Amino acid sequence: MNNRHYDSIAMIYDHLMSRIDYSGWSEYLYDLYESFGVEEKLPLELASGSGKLSRKLLSHFSKIVCSDLNLKMLKINGNKNLLKVNCDMRRLPFKREFGFIYCTFDSFNYLINREDVSLVLKQIGSLLKSEGLFTFDVSLEANSIKNIGILNRSGEYKGIKYTQTSNYNTDSRYHSNIFKLIFPDGSKKYESHTQKIYAFNEYFDIIDNLELYVSECFEFFTFKDANPDCERVQFILRKR
Ligand SMILES: C[S@@+](CC[C@H](N)C(=O)[O-])C[C@H]1O[C@@H](n2cnc3c(N)ncnc32)[C@H](O)[C@@H]1O
Repeated sequence: MNNRHYDSIAMIYDHLMSRIDYSGWSEYLYDLYESFGVEEKLPLELASGSGKLSRKLLSHFSKIVCSDLNLKMLKINGNKNLLKVNCDMRRLPFKREFGFIYCTFDSFNYLINREDVSLVLKQIGSLLKSEGLFTFDVSLEANSIKNIGILNRSGEYKGIKYTQTSNYNTDSRYHSNIFKLIFPDGSKKYESHTQKIYAFNEYFDIIDNLELYVSECFEFFTFKDANPDCERVQFILRKR
């Protein structure tokens, strides 16, 4: 794939996420941070993409570490107060502890086998300060079923035509999104993303054996207890 096309996929993907209310989302995360009495000067975001959410959180923190597997995503929209680290959350390179770690917008669903979920959580258990807080949201089956219609979409951005084809398989519980890009010169590029839609209770089973425990699990964007029928839930993990 040439570099121009590779950059374009990240750009279109980032564009599709620009419709998200990152201001509201960041305030919700900050409310969680405050209500659990955490104190941290330098939070860490995992799977930050281009850092849209952390950019909003800079109204509360002077610097934030943003990390993501995709270097092209990280390079979009630089900000000197977002310290960007290109890494896989399954192999975190950090040598210091953090008091506030977060991972948002279904990024955990990109961990498509339970061993990887467990591996990431084990590392976070080692990286988290003793009074720290790790929070992440996950998409559940109700979300995949409800939103499959709007995720099948097409459009044009900066002269590049794109189509997103989304499919959820209720047997395998894999949710795939295939992005097709057509460039002004007629050339095409495809990229496929797969997410695993774990059952609500699977997360509790995995976390049961770890150094972390589930302090709360909320229906997304609220402080109400979550249940298996929710579309998206927010886990709050702390150290045992
Ligand atoms: C749906 S996007 C969310 C990005 C960002 N959290 C946001 O809300 O804008 C999912 C992100 O997860 C990243 N990702 C997927 N697997 C990853 C992994 N194993 N380690 C780190 N990042 C990963 C992708 O590169 C992508 O940027």
